[in-house]
Amino acid sequence: MIKFEVNGKEHSYSGDASMPLLWFLRDIADLKGTKFGCGKGLCGACTVHLNGQAVRSCTLPVQAIEGQSITTVEGLSDDASHPVQRAWQELNVAQCGYCQCGQMMSAAALLQNNQAPSDDDINNAMSGNICRCGTYPRIKTAIKLAADLAVEVK
Ligand code: FES
Ligand code: FES
Repeated sequence: MIKFEVNGKEHSYSGDASMPLLWFLRDIADLKGTKFGCGKGLCGACTVHLNGQAVRSCTLPVQAIEGQSITTVEGLSDDASHPVQRAWQELNVAQCGYCQCGQMMSAAALLQNNQAPSDDDINNAMSGNICRCGTYPRIKTAIKLAADLAVEVK
């Protein structure tokens, strides 16, 4: 039995321990915000936080998260009040939207570690998140707005 936490709730799983966490999140925990894109750790659509760090859930086996804490996009806040969610809404970042939960999770992890990221910091942190709609300029602006909003909250 593998035990872990998702968005502050205890979960346990006794199936195939090598199953990717993404499968657990979408098919068992019914948390559909985290998306399947490439399944190979290349696109970032499946990004979640493992103990606050951005990780790719499509390549992370459930056995690797025993005793760990996972946050999905649904866990950023109860009411879309996280600075990243507010900034994304204010700037209408999403186009088709498919990549955006992964983008927001990478952005939230960046801002957790760096409250005033430079353009280079943003480029480095976000380089593994692909957007087929090309929303990159809006994402960069939104991360800067989220950094400002986070300061206001404090
Ligand atoms: S689906 Fe995980 S990185 Fe693409
Ligand atoms: S908004 Fe469509 S893939 Fe990013």
